[in-house]
Amino acid sequence: MALGHRPLLWALIRLRRPHVVVETGLWYGLGAMVMLRALERNVEDGGHAGRLISFDPDPTAGWMVPQRHADRWTWARATTQDALAANLAGIRVDLFVHDTPSEPDLERYEFTTAADAAAPGAVLCSGNGQNTPALRELCDQRGFPFMHHDYAAAGHFYRGNGISFATATRMTKTL
Ligand SMILES: C[S@@+](CC[C@H](N)C(=O)[O-])C[C@H]1O[C@@H](n2cnc3c(N)ncnc32)[C@H](O)[C@@H]1O
Repeated sequence: MALGHRPLLWALIRLRRPHVVVETGLWYGLGAMVMLRALERNVEDGGHAGRLISFDPDPTAGWMVPQRHADRWTWARATTQDALAANLAGIRVDLFVHDTPSEPDLERYEFTTAADAAAPGAVLCSGNGQNTPALRELCDQRGFPFMHHDYAAAGHFYRGNGISFATATRMTKTL
């Protein structure tokens, strides 16, 4: 199975060593498996034990995630509309990965909720790229830097729409 944008998530976790990673949309668990292995590698390198919280109401989701990651992984078996805000209450999120369907209102809700729970300098990522303007709008509202990487899937019927990132750091203008 092609890894697509998931190596970027691997690199983010290996470089930034997040304590808390949140993923919306789990599906088979390919992204979760990659991110959990990156968190495991951080521990093997002597770093702290980060954890991943995934959201997906589909009871058949997540079958790819190896059992050995159970102590660093929480699967909230609910929609983000029902469970994201409650699960992030009191938590500081270091990396947020949006990967539920590209619906503008859903994306706005997820990114706003994630930004309210974001640790300083946290990275917010849209696996749907710029299918909706939700992440860019949030950056405009909060003064966060925004970056879009417009890679295209090779040899696939759907080229994808790239991947977008924001950093939860308010930009200040310098003269
Ligand atoms: C693109 S797949 C996720 C892919 C996964 N992140 C990966 O890296 O392989 C989208 C998933 O979002 C789930 N989903 C759809 N609406 C949702 C919602 N409102 N809240 C949480 N999950 C949702 C679907 O059940 C589906 O499994």
